[in-house]
Amino acid sequence: MSEKFYKDHVVYQIYPRSFCDSNSDGIGDLQGIISKLDYLKDLGVDILWLSPIYPSPNFDYGYDISDYMDINPEYGTMKDFDQLIEQANKREMKIVMDLVVNHTSSEHRWFKESQNKGSPYHDYYIYKKGKKNNKKPPNNWTSNFMGEAWTYVDKCDEWYLHLFAPEQVDLNWKNEAVYQEVKKILEFWYSKGVYGFRCDVINQIYKTSLEDGKGNSLNRLKGGEHYISQEGCHKILNRFHNEVFSKQKDTMVVGETVSITIDQAKRFTSGDEIDMVFSFEHEDAPTYKLLPLVFKRFNPERFKQIMIKWQKNIDWNANYFENHDQLRSIDHYGSRKYHKESGKALGMLLLTLRGTPFIFQGEEIGQLDYDEYDEKNVKDIVPINIKKIISKIPLPKKMKNNFLFHYDRDNARAPFQWDKSIYAGFSSVEPWNKVTETSAHINYELQKNDPDSIFNFYRDLLAYRKKNKALSIGSIEFDPKAPKGVFAYYRTLNKDKFKVIINLNKKEVKYINLDIGEEILKSRSDMKVGYLLPYEAVLIKL
Ligand code: GLC
Ligand code: CA
Repeated sequence: MSEKFYKDHVVYQIYPRSFCDSNSDGIGDLQGIISKLDYLKDLGVDILWLSPIYPSPNFDYGYDISDYMDINPEYGTMKDFDQLIEQANKREMKIVMDLVVNHTSSEHRWFKESQNKGSPYHDYYIYKKGKKNNKKPPNNWTSNFMGEAWTYVDKCDEWYLHLFAPEQVDLNWKNEAVYQEVKKILEFWYSKGVYGFRCDVINQIYKTSLEDGKGNSLNRLKGGEHYISQEGCHKILNRFHNEVFSKQKDTMVVGETVSITIDQAKRFTSGDEIDMVFSFEHEDAPTYKLLPLVFKRFNPERFKQIMIKWQKNIDWNANYFENHDQLRSIDHYGSRKYHKESGKALGMLLLTLRGTPFIFQGEEIGQLDYDEYDEKNVKDIVPINIKKIISKIPLPKKMKNNFLFHYDRDNARAPFQWDKSIYAGFSSVEPWNKVTETSAHINYELQKNDPDSIFNFYRDLLAYRKKNKALSIGSIEFDPKAPKGVFAYYRTLNKDKFKVIINLNKKEVKYINLDIGEEILKSRSDMKVGYLLPYEAVLIKL
């Protein structure tokens, strides 16, 4: 067994706003999470990462924090949080917090005070005089959320930088005081008993220079070469490692790292910065074609090659197919037609690759995206912003909507589907975000007693994985002769050896398995000798 808990355990990401509403206001909350701890324990997950639960004006639903050491009253109180930690620990589960420190909310006290030029808080952020007599932004950088990355402030007659929305103001990590503040925040939550942190867009925090960026105006990250994975960022994380993370008995720190390369990922995870990074390359395996109408094409072989590259080059990956920013994995990489089969096949992959698996709430029951883009329901700032930009382009509405749909993070943020009732058992009143159209036939209630369900597949596999460490900490070796779009690999630890075969193609593929062993778990019960059926996945103990 490994001394690091996260190495042989599984993370489950909760988007608290959409998980479970305990007090009938349509918004998920901490007591809702507490009421589902037995569900999570039964499922077999061990570490709960909570998307931000701090006070926030919700321009980006918690990713704009106005107080780092308190609880958003919509979700409960600090007492509820203490209870959550206690109840989770009682079940041998751990809590991981979301650390969002590239930026603060524009309603954070620091930012309000920062607008006085004489205030020490002025230097907490990145202010600068603009070009052209202060009429134009200081540089040509674009925001991750579209549009200019700078906003002018009357009060101090300067512009401030925001790599996301104007309500998310970038902190100045060249200021020692900012480092000290965040150190205090980390220590505060550790003292409350949290296990670790998921660090939001952590490889963007350090801006080496504020010079103009290269590339055209369509580049969402124009200027990125001045702030993505900079030397200064490594230095900061190394300091946190030495001064905070390494002082804990055990902790898990995972970074969300935008546009990360293999070499950079190696550096971040080499032992003196953070434990793991989320990479994004596989998220782009499905490609979008704009014409004649927006549609998606998923190339399973391309996906496989990307996954294998990361598995081979990075010793310990943070494996995920879903989170609160992505489309649902069955819609993204699988197939609605083969809902059950592809849901299980993806689950098999997620839970048997080497690394720590991250399950996103609802993934374990095969929750899907909405059926279509619904203008009236949009809550997420990303499609709202994109819509403004494309509104003047003369394209058919249907096409625009298809386009917006792919960027609409509301898809992942629909309420968890506990049962078939009108609000999916998430709440007794209309939820803050719409329930998906498929909730009546995709929900926990229907799946819990069905041995053939996606839920029970996850549950069985999680239980088996817990007892068979080869599947978590064992080595991984890929069969280079596996057909296109088919994963075939071995997991080995001492004398224990497993083979995993997963067909991610929509069609059957010729394949003869020459390894003899005991079939532990399969994604489908039918078979055809010499072939793998669509989304056939099997775990074999050799
Ligand atoms: C990360 C979060 C995303 C958020 C953004 C800005 O990408 O996952 O939800 O909008 O950072 O904080
Ligand atoms: Ca509530």
